[in-house]
Formats: sequence, C-alpha cells, structure tokens
Amino acid sequence: MALKLNQMAFQSRKFSSFSLPQSRNLRSHRVFMASTLNSAPREVENVKKPFSPPREVHVQVTHSMPPQQIEIFKSLDDWAEKNILVHLKPVEKCWQPSDFLPDPASEGFDEQVKELRERSKEIPDDYYVVLVGDMITEEALPTYQTMLNTLDGVRDETGASPTSWAIWTRAWTAEENRHGDLLNRYLYLSGRVDMRQIEKTIQYLIGSGMDPRTENSPYLGFIYTSFQERATFISHGNTARLAKEHGDLKLAQICGTIAADEKRHETAYTKIVEKLFEIDPDGTVFALADMMRKKISMPAHLMYDGQDDNLFEHFSSVTQRLGVYTAKDYADILEFLVGRWNVEKLVGLSGEGRKAQDYVCGLAPRIRRLEERAQSRAKQASTVPFSWIFGRQINL
Ligand SMILES: [Fe+2]
Ligand SMILES: [Fe+2]
Repeated sequence: MALKLNQMAFQSRKFSSFSLPQSRNLRSHRVFMASTLNSAPREVENVKKPFSPPREVHVQVTHSMPPQQIEIFKSLDDWAEKNILVHLKPVEKCWQPSDFLPDPASEGFDEQVKELRERSKEIPDDYYVVLVGDMITEEALPTYQTMLNTLDGVRDETGASPTSWAIWTRAWTAEENRHGDLLNRYLYLSGRVDMRQIEKTIQYLIGSGMDPRTENSPYLGFIYTSFQERATFISHGNTARLAKEHGDLKLAQICGTIAADEKRHETAYTKIVEKLFEIDPDGTVFALADMMRKKISMPAHLMYDGQDDNLFEHFSSVTQRLGVYTAKDYADILEFLVGRWNVEKLVGLSGEGRKAQDYVCGLAPRIRRLEERAQSRAKQASTVPFSWIFGRQINL
C-alpha cells in the first residue's frame, strides 16, 4: 500500500511574507492549502493578527494521508495498548519537580535556595542561554499536544477519548509537563536570568505554534516525534554533562532525569514507526524521505522575545558552540533511526520506494560533508545580546 504524497508536499517554497517587527502591521496574505481529501489545492486568505510574532511558515499542506492509511491506525489500537502504553510510567512512580527543588514548606528553604544560588554562580552565561532555550522549548508543550492532535486516525477526538492513541498523547503530555515546570522553577530560583523576558518568549512561542509540516499524517508525525525525542534526549544529556563540569551536581541530576524521560519517549515513538515499516514499508520509507527532504524543524523554531528577530538562530548557534545540540547530532540521529528501523535492509519496495530508501540511507554522510564545509567557511565569531540574561553579550 503506497503512500501517495501530495505533490504540494514536495514544494520547498517558503511562505515568506510575514513581516518583521519594523513593518508589523495588519496585512493580508494568501496561503496555499493543499489537501488530497479536498481534491484541489485551496488558497486561503490569512489575515495577520497584530499579536502574531514575525515568523515565517511554509506552505501549509493538510490531510495528505489517504483513508486506507488512517484505517491502519484504527486497527493498531490494541497493538498500541500492549506495545506503546507500557512505555508510560504510572504517576505514583514518576518523579515530580518538587523532588529536585528547595521545599518552600520546610524550615531549611532559605538555606537551600542560598545553596542553589551559590552553585549557579559558577555556571557561565552561555550555559544559561542554552538552558533557558531548552526550558522555553519544553514550556511550549500546549503546541506539541495540539500538533499530535492534528494527526488523522490517532487524535484525541473528545479530550478524554479512550483509544490507546489518545491515552498515550494525554499521558505523554502529562509526563512532559514536568520538564518545563522543573527547569522553569530552577531558573527562577537561580536569580541568573530575566524571568520576565523568558516568560514573554514563552507567550510569543505558544502564540506562534510550530510548523513541522506533518500534514495531519501520523506517518510523518511519528517520524518527527521519534527524531525530536532523541534530539531532546541528546541536548538534555549534554546540559547535564556540562552542569557536572561546572560543579553543579544537582542541576546535572535535573537535566539527566529529564533526558531519561525523553529516552523512554523515543523508545515508544520509534516502536510505532518500526511497526509502520512492517505493515507498509513503501509508505513509511516515502514518509521518512519526505520529512528529511523538508528537514526536521526544531519545535521552538518560531521563538521570539519581542526584540531579536533571529532569536532561534542565535540560540542554536550557542547550543552548537557549546556542543549541546549540533549539526553532527542531526546527522547522527538520522543515522541512528535508519539503523533502528533497518531501512537499508527493507525488501519488496516499489521502484519509488527504493529511490526513497537510497536517499535516506545516503543522507547522513552528505549532511556531515556539508556541515564540514560550512564549518570551514564559518566567519569570525560575533556576539549578540540575549534579553534572557539582561542583554548581556554572548559569543555565537
Ligand atoms: Fe521534554
Ligand atoms: Fe519527550
């Protein structure tokens, strides 16, 4: 059963008419919407609201997955109960943010906060920029639950739907919710960051949403989440390592504990995609190639703080420089997933399927080569101010 991806899915044309703040005003834009369910591509009027942040989004392609593939997910509900829900942890066995933070009801609260702040003094500003960006990414959780509920065949239809897919999405969200809470409270207590600027960035980001280009397809959606859970596992793991190097073992424990959750989520999402490869190898390899051609965008790529038009790019440069999340990690994740799903060994593919297979199997080394070339061309380091740390300058 082949996934017939809509032609529009392969367009890389960017919808670039969102204005930058200097010219932010009420403007009307035309956005193309394509849908196989709605036969002809639709062009819809999109009036920019004054509270929309100045970020670009791509051409929005919707409902590219045919009905027979939606049925696959309905038929997998029992399978998901036995194979996916087991990767959730019962609430009673879960850690909570309070386990890692000073207890405001205890006598020793002031002392514990003092200790936390002493430890945080040893940590450099650029580390805080990365940790803040990671926290903001976690705090935009409403967007990720929305994204999962855009997916045909697995969305939570009622808000309390009893399907395995909906149970997973709600419980996954509930687990994730602790990540932003914990990092937010730690950063607040540290006194090292401008909480108001951070809170504004979160508000802007949730208002912007995200543009993962998953087209309401759980094939694309679960490839995206597999990639992202591994990316967050890597980046929280690296902030844990750096915190340890800076002598803050408690912060290292916080980041490491979050990383362990991400790993468990990665296991669940990669298992779903593994199952799709088993049922529909052609459709799944097309979906993987499609997501990789479009490039996996980071969940917080639309971030804005009201000041820096290139905030996400600047944050990404710092994460790259500190080695928390790098272009090499991107290539490594792809290579890991290609191996995890045995993409090289898929058999019985159509001609198009084999082309998609060749493309994804050869992609990681190509990304690494391009990255090396980009590194050698990299210009002199420049600095930018980050509002999150009171406008102090950081090397990119
Ligand atoms: Fe998370
Ligand atoms: Fe996660």
